[in-house]
This record gives sequence, C-alpha cells and structure tokens, in this order.
Amino acid sequence: MSKKLKIGLFGFGVVGQGLYDIIRTKNLNIEIVKIAIKDPTKKRTLPPELFTTDKDELLNNPEINTIVELINDTEAAYDIVSTALKTGRNVVSASKKMLAIYLQELIDLQHQYGTSLLYEASVCGSIPIIRNLEEYYDNELLHSISGIFNGSSNYILSKGYNENMDYDTALKLAQDLGFAETDPTLDVGGFDAKYKLVIAAAHAYGVVVKPEKVLNVGIQNLHANDLQYAREKKLKIKLVPVAKELDDQHVTMFVLPKFVNEHEFLYNVDYEYNCVTVQAAFADQQFFYGKGAGGHPTGSAVLSDIAALRYDYQYEYKKAHNKKDLRFTNNVELNIYLRYEDDDLVEALQFEYIHERFYSGNYKFVTGKINLQNLIDNQHRISNSKAFVAFANQLTGVSLATAAKQTAEVL
Ligand code: HSE
Repeated sequence: MSKKLKIGLFGFGVVGQGLYDIIRTKNLNIEIVKIAIKDPTKKRTLPPELFTTDKDELLNNPEINTIVELINDTEAAYDIVSTALKTGRNVVSASKKMLAIYLQELIDLQHQYGTSLLYEASVCGSIPIIRNLEEYYDNELLHSISGIFNGSSNYILSKGYNENMDYDTALKLAQDLGFAETDPTLDVGGFDAKYKLVIAAAHAYGVVVKPEKVLNVGIQNLHANDLQYAREKKLKIKLVPVAKELDDQHVTMFVLPKFVNEHEFLYNVDYEYNCVTVQAAFADQQFFYGKGAGGHPTGSAVLSDIAALRYDYQYEYKKAHNKKDLRFTNNVELNIYLRYEDDDLVEALQFEYIHERFYSGNYKFVTGKINLQNLIDNQHRISNSKAFVAFANQLTGVSLATAAKQTAEVL
C-alpha cells in the first residue's frame, strides 16, 4: 500500500492550477493541505482558507509530508526546496532555472538528509525524459541528446515560418497562452533551454555543469533574410540544445539555433511541442515527442513525480557515481551560419574554415567551421551587433560527430 501524501503546494499559476485540475479528477491517495501564493488579491477559484502567503505555514506544518514547488522566483524556490529537504520532506519541483543553478547542492542535500527531489516537469513539460535517462539508459552509451526544449521559442519560430507571423505578435501569443516565462528573454535567448539541458545532461552523463559555462544563443536576432535562406534550402530553423559525448573523457553542450532538414525528427515539431532525440550506441536513434508547456501537460509530469513519491522513489544519480572521467568541454568545432553587419565580428570569431561567403546589400552571411569557445568569447558581441548564428552541420557536409577535435582540452 502506498503512503498517503499530504502536500504543501507552492505556487498556483498555470502549472499549479493544471496540477490541481488533474488531482481533482483522480482518486489518488493525495491531499493538498495548503497552497502558498504571493498575491492574495488575485481572484481564485478555490476556498480562501486553502491559501496562505506565509511559507512557514507549509514548511512548519508537521501534517505536510511532501512539498510541491511551482514558483517563479529562483532564490525563493531554492530556499523552499532546500529547507524542505533538510526537514525530512520529499519534494517535487518544476523550477528549471533554480534546479540547473543549484543542482549539485540539491544532490548533496538529498544524500545528506536521505530525502528525495524529483523534477520531471522541469525538462520538456509532459515528456518523461529524466527518469528515462536515469533508469532506462543506465547501461547504454549515449552518444548525444538534443531536441526542442523550449515551447515558446518553437512557437514563435513556427508562427514565423508556417504563417509568416512577425516575431512580436507571435511572442505576445505565446505569453497569452501561458507558455512564456515572466521574462521572455529566458525563452527566446536560449536560457530556459540551457537550464533544461544542464538538468538532462546530469542524468544522461552524470556531469553536473554550471549553466554559465554553457553557450546559449537564442532567436532574438532572427531576421526575414535568415528565414528566406532556410526556405530556399528547404530547411527550417529550430532552437536546439545539444549534449554530446565526444570521447570517453569529454562531453560538450550548447544551445544554438539550428537548420534542420525534412529528414530530421525535429523538422515536424512545431508550435509549443517539444521533443528529445537520443542517439544511443545500441538502441540507435530514438525520439520523444510531446507538449513542453502549458498547465495540464506540465501538471501531468508533476503528478507523475508525486505518484512516484508515494513509493519513495529517488534519483540515484548513478552515472555521476560511476563515470569518473567524463568532463565538460567547450573545445569542439562546429559548422555555423553567421549573418552579420560588423565585418570585425567575422575576424574575431577566427573561422578555421570558410565554406561560403555572401554579400548583397544589407545581407551578409558566412558559413564555415569555428571553435565553440570562440562563440562563447564573442557571445555579447554577437547579440549586441544583431548578428544571427545557427548551427548548420548539413551546410558544409561535415557532421558534428566528425568535427569533434581529437585533442579537445578541458576548460
Ligand atoms: N517557458 C517554457 C517554454 C515553459 O516555453 O517551454 C515550459 O518550461
């Protein structure tokens, strides 16, 4: 018999409400005892006595044995989650930014206090990827994981490509539908996808990397010329996080827009849908597809974690224990497309090989091979000069797999 979970819920936004709707329709051994919210003046559909603005009413309540944390504030979320873990409560969280920034600390707290923190909903909403990476791919050599991890930017790209909708209108729609973050820069700048990548990589490779070490270039500087370029080549542009094992000592990660062709799974993943592609040594390529944002899809992943806690499920972080030598590196060569205005930027990026260079009126682009570290060093210059960079392995006919440097150095 599973134990009864008495939940203290933090946050009643899109996901909190979605979770509540789902729990209400199910006959589970679960009770939401109290909900902590920030804004008491907001109109709620539930009885007022269920809500409080005092976090300690949940954290100090001995009746509550499980905390579900679904709030927006990174530091407050860390405070709640770490306090709960230290006081013997199991926790479910969907705060990807908080989890990515504090992942090592949270792993240590779980080990120290014997409590469990689950966060399936933090990566790709409804797609069950964390437990799969942790459990199912336990003995598989994972060559790479990539996909579409941010629904809002995918929504904007799809609206632009399929319906010619302009960027600002599409972003407004994504905000109205509740997909976008409070600060949408996190979505369109590739930060949100990066946080999710860092979390997924910890379970795929056992490597816990601080997000600031990982490149994220977003879609803010996307221009009609870039979409036109993609259309002419029958390609689409997607915002793609990649984690790839280069050899048995090095793993690289980055988030970049990517040109994808019609034969790639990603090509048909549109709007708020997310996907994960796993390239494994024996299973070969696999594809997970589902809604990455929205109250009910994300709430379903939160509920799955809550249900797992009824049986005291814990991530074991097995790969972190077993793999001693795998380390993160940015020393890898990538084939990129760069549309630019500032000629000096091309010099600064130190292309190792230029495949194609084009100049007509205001539209200037170059494709070729550069080192990922050079992109990181020039990240601000790229965004400030309105340049657009995309990862473009099919444009030069060299795949990422063959582009990995044999002599990669660990940074
Ligand atoms: N803002 C996120 C997205 C929500 O658009 O994917 C889900 O994590």
